[in-house]
Amino acid sequence: MTVPTRKTRLFTRREVDRGDFIDKLAQRWVVERAAVTMYQEAIARLRVNQLLQKVIPELERFMAQEKLHADMLEQLLGELGRGDVHGEHATPAVNLAASTMAAILESIRAPRATARSIMEAILMAERVDAGGWELLTELAKEGGLDEDYLRSFRAAEREEREHEHVVRTHLMRLEHEMLLHERYPVATSR
Ligand SMILES: [Fe+2]
Repeated sequence: MTVPTRKTRLFTRREVDRGDFIDKLAQRWVVERAAVTMYQEAIARLRVNQLLQKVIPELERFMAQEKLHADMLEQLLGELGRGDVHGEHATPAVNLAASTMAAILESIRAPRATARSIMEAILMAERVDAGGWELLTELAKEGGLDEDYLRSFRAAEREEREHEHVVRTHLMRLEHEMLLHERYPVATSR
C-alpha cells in the first residue's frame, strides 16, 4: 500500500458529512495505532516459543503494514483539517475502538498469557480491523472519496484480510498441536 499525494478535492459527492467521515477515520486510526503496539508486545513474548519461530517474520510484516495504515489515515485526517488526531475529543465510535483494543492489549500483557491466548487476542484484533476496513472502504466508495485514497483503502482491506487469515491458520495449528496433540493438516500461508 502506498500513501497518496496531497489532493485539492477529496470527495466527488458534496453532501458527504465530513465530521462523520472524520470520526470513522479517527476510529480506524485508533485501531491501527493500537495494533502496532499490540504486535510489538506480542512479538516480544512469542519470540521465545519454538513452535512460533516461522510466524515472527509474518507478524513483523503485519506490524509494518498497520503502521503504514495509521500513517495514511493520519495524512488523510490532516488533509481534512484534523491534523492533531491525538488531541481530538473521544466520540462513542473512537471510545469503542479504544476500549476494544485496550482489552486485547491487557490480555496480551497478562502475566499468565500463553502463546495460544496471545494468538487468539491478535485474531480478535484482526477481525475488528478487517471488519472496520470493510465498512470504511464501502462508505468511502459510496461517498466518492478520491481514487488514490480509495485504492489505498482497498489495499489496506486486502492486507487486513490476509492478517486475519494467517493469524487464524497459525492459531489453529497451535491448538491442534497443544489441545488435540496432532499436526494441523492445512498449509500456513496462501
Ligand atoms: Fe491487521
